[in-house]
Amino acid sequence: MRYIPEFLTAKAVGRRIVMTTCYDYPSAAALVRADVDAVLVGDSCAMVVYGHESTLHAELPQLCAHTAAVRRGAPELVIIADMPFLSTRCGIAKAVEAAGQLMKAGANAVKIEGVEGHEKLIPRLIQSGIPVMGHLGLQPQQVHSLGGYKKQGKDSTAQEAILQDAQKLQELGCFSVVLECVPSSLGKKLSKSLNIPVIGIGAGADTDGQILVLHDLAGLNPGIAPSFVKRYADLGAQLSDAVSEYAGEVRSGNYTAKGFNRAASPLIVRSPEDWKSLCKSLSRQGSVGFVPTMGALHEGHAALLRRCAAENDFALASIFVNPSQFNDPRDLAAYPVCEKEDLQLLEACGVYAVFMPDAASMYPDEYTVKVQESCFSQGFCGEGRPGHFDGVCTVVLKLLLLSGATRAYFGEKDWQQLAVIRALSKAFFLDTGIVPCPIVREPSGLAMSSRNMRLSAAGREKAAAIYKALKEGPSVDEVRKDLESQGFDVEYVDDMNGERRLCAVCLEGVRLIDNVPVQKGEGV
Ligand code: KIV
Repeated sequence: MRYIPEFLTAKAVGRRIVMTTCYDYPSAAALVRADVDAVLVGDSCAMVVYGHESTLHAELPQLCAHTAAVRRGAPELVIIADMPFLSTRCGIAKAVEAAGQLMKAGANAVKIEGVEGHEKLIPRLIQSGIPVMGHLGLQPQQVHSLGGYKKQGKDSTAQEAILQDAQKLQELGCFSVVLECVPSSLGKKLSKSLNIPVIGIGAGADTDGQILVLHDLAGLNPGIAPSFVKRYADLGAQLSDAVSEYAGEVRSGNYTAKGFNRAASPLIVRSPEDWKSLCKSLSRQGSVGFVPTMGALHEGHAALLRRCAAENDFALASIFVNPSQFNDPRDLAAYPVCEKEDLQLLEACGVYAVFMPDAASMYPDEYTVKVQESCFSQGFCGEGRPGHFDGVCTVVLKLLLLSGATRAYFGEKDWQQLAVIRALSKAFFLDTGIVPCPIVREPSGLAMSSRNMRLSAAGREKAAAIYKALKEGPSVDEVRKDLESQGFDVEYVDDMNGERRLCAVCLEGVRLIDNVPVQKGEGV
């Protein structure tokens, strides 16, 4: 809301009004983003900001300064400021003067506790251009007379008195009334009987709007919040955690300013716990991209890594030869490992940190817990490599949960794997966006793969025929025949969903996969 009359419009159309207290510039900006209708610079400031035991300690200059700060954070929001203790009780002229100071500091209206003794003041303020919000039920400025912060309107006589006071406030010209700590039935009754909106706090769910003390709802109040307060966050604890993390980094000598490590070699992290906390801390500073790999990096990986670095504030990678996805132990043993060259390539691609765990730390359960996908993993590589996709799903889920990345990048060369990972992400409501990246090929057309380095020079040349056959073969049978006639041991050539032609072949004992789009008009 921008203007006070909108309170009445909201009541007229039955739209509930959302208010919180607010005392400073950053909170005001946050509350604008949260789309609250109006804020109150309450005298509760004395308690939740300054640590006093009651609101009696709020001073006019203090509330004016807070009002001005809130106005800077919320230039177009309705701000109501509390008239502090006794400021309305020392004569009308002084009260108008005090209210005027709050208005000049940035308020659109003032709030006054109680009716008795304010019958002349309220119309005078309104005549002077200062809208007034009333405050009934528990009036914290009366805490000593009341004998504590106690529920009001407990019996019918007390309820009747509150109803009459509310009626009086409406007649005096108040645009709204706050009703604090009364039975829900009274909150409902009052809201029904008045033409002006009733903003409840501890007055049940049926008032025309609600207000809560910001520090109570956000978990920033170290003191005891009233029992009716619903807490929506634990910012106090989060703040302590953030600062103790910072303190830990400084004291252990691990503090790095944001972006400090960009040009240097990637941080190497080996334990899942350290990786998780690094990723968490990076996520707070910007977007995180992640490229999971098994190492033996080549230009295909480099394309993923460069894209990841270009699209995110932090590019992360993992190198982990995942044993659970190898159905053949000889294949696992022969998988190339070239850590030094990999780290050089990661650095050249702008990778900030790399996760290089060992199998024991990734499988503390010794792989007794696994994830199984039973649709996209069927057929193709799933047939020739039993258990392969269980291993892929399990490790990818672990890596994505540990990294909590904004985006993760996967090559389309493993077309079936990509389909399985998409299904995994959907099934487990993963927050990480799965980004598919086109196949990178050698000039000969051979799809880049870590396994290519196990081929002889002649084998590498010959392997270019896989792509040619896939692209040019009129049918899957023709492709198979063509490849077999050239000496490839063909595991499968098949079309997936009539969209993509996939194959797996063996050459010189090395298993190679590739895929191309199915040309329009081709039969399956
Ligand atoms: O000062 C304050 O926070 C208040 C609310 C309790 C409405 O008056």
